[in-house]
Amino acid sequence: MSYLWVDKYRPKSLNELNHTPELTTKLSNLSADQNINNIPNILIYGPNGSGKKTRVMALLNRIYCNDSNHVFKLKIDVREFKVNSRNLEINVVSSPYHIEITPSDLGYSYDKIAIQQIIKELGSVAHQFVVNNKSTVKFKTIIINDANKLSKDAQHALRRTIEKFSKNIRIIMVCETLSNIIDPIRSRMLNIRLSSPSREEFDEIVIKVCQKENILYSDKFLSKLDNVCKKNIRLGLLTLENMAVLKNFDLSGNDINVMKPDWLMCIDKICLLAVKNSTVETILTIRGIFYDLIAHCIPADLILQRIIMWVLENGEFMNIKPNAIIKIIEYGSIYDERMKLGSKDIFHLEGFITKMILETSN
Ligand SMILES: Nc1ncnc2c1ncn2[C@@H]1O[C@H](COP(=O)(O)OP(=O)(O)OP(=O)(O)O)[C@@H](O)[C@H]1O
Ligand SMILES: [Mg+2]
Repeated sequence: MSYLWVDKYRPKSLNELNHTPELTTKLSNLSADQNINNIPNILIYGPNGSGKKTRVMALLNRIYCNDSNHVFKLKIDVREFKVNSRNLEINVVSSPYHIEITPSDLGYSYDKIAIQQIIKELGSVAHQFVVNNKSTVKFKTIIINDANKLSKDAQHALRRTIEKFSKNIRIIMVCETLSNIIDPIRSRMLNIRLSSPSREEFDEIVIKVCQKENILYSDKFLSKLDNVCKKNIRLGLLTLENMAVLKNFDLSGNDINVMKPDWLMCIDKICLLAVKNSTVETILTIRGIFYDLIAHCIPADLILQRIIMWVLENGEFMNIKPNAIIKIIEYGSIYDERMKLGSKDIFHLEGFITKMILETSN
């Protein structure tokens, strides 16, 4: 079976993780045999593509399998719940040791029901997993993705249920930022921030894949890749694979340009249009591009974040006044909050871009 390189080279055990070694040591100590049943609930957060999920799975591998990789034997099911005559469906990824859910996909108030039911189901039975004929792990783990997108109700329900079933389950919540997570959850979990890899660590990961796949590369290529991918490991490996196939596995030439993924090119286009053409037609054109991006499952908050990054990186070069740059960042935070509170992302993206057009046209 052929895999994308992001899957093929995803580290499976804690010792294979090359970046943020202090955190790896901490996780290894937490999961040492004598402590194994005292592992706390964990809230892990960090930027996109920094390896949160990879680290969580490596930790589970250490806890349940001692690196035998059984935790990666995954099964995908659809779970159904009936709420007030409405059928809800949620995707559940599971191994014998853990399950992974993204309850925020269900939307406000239904996420609470899904969380309560799943935790209750797993928490009300005792679990026993014998690891290497030595220690016995007495809990099953529930991974909750996109934890910061959970409604407040769901978070409060989670807080209560965690305590009730703490003997039989552990929760690992994964998210990009803590900003939407309520204090009682933060204070009841071990908060772990995973930063992006350093430039050297990012290069090391890319070079390892280049060596395994026999790709010729140069330092110049690595630095261009780093510039485009901003230390996002997933984006880095996807772009590397794309370019390697296109250029016949030779990326050592001086004239090699790292291509940005289409969605980033669209964001560049939006920014250029907003800065250069301050007309009503521009807003309409940009609306079309926003719709395209959203239809291709690019999250609206990521679009907003990337526009702000573009302004920060190119503002001076595009002659945007420093005051305007500050204002645009301020609007970015306002519209980001509104987007989190509201339900129609496109309104807020459009509102933001209109403000940006106004600021840059003055
Ligand atoms: N320490 C590492 N060494 C090598 N490759 C890694 C490492 N961490 C992550 N990766 C690679 O990066 C890819 C993305 O990692 P992962 O899915 O864990 O990121 P994430 O932080 O959960 O991202 P997102 O926030 O976008 O969900 C993985 O498929 C894996 O191939
Ligand atoms: Mg992830």
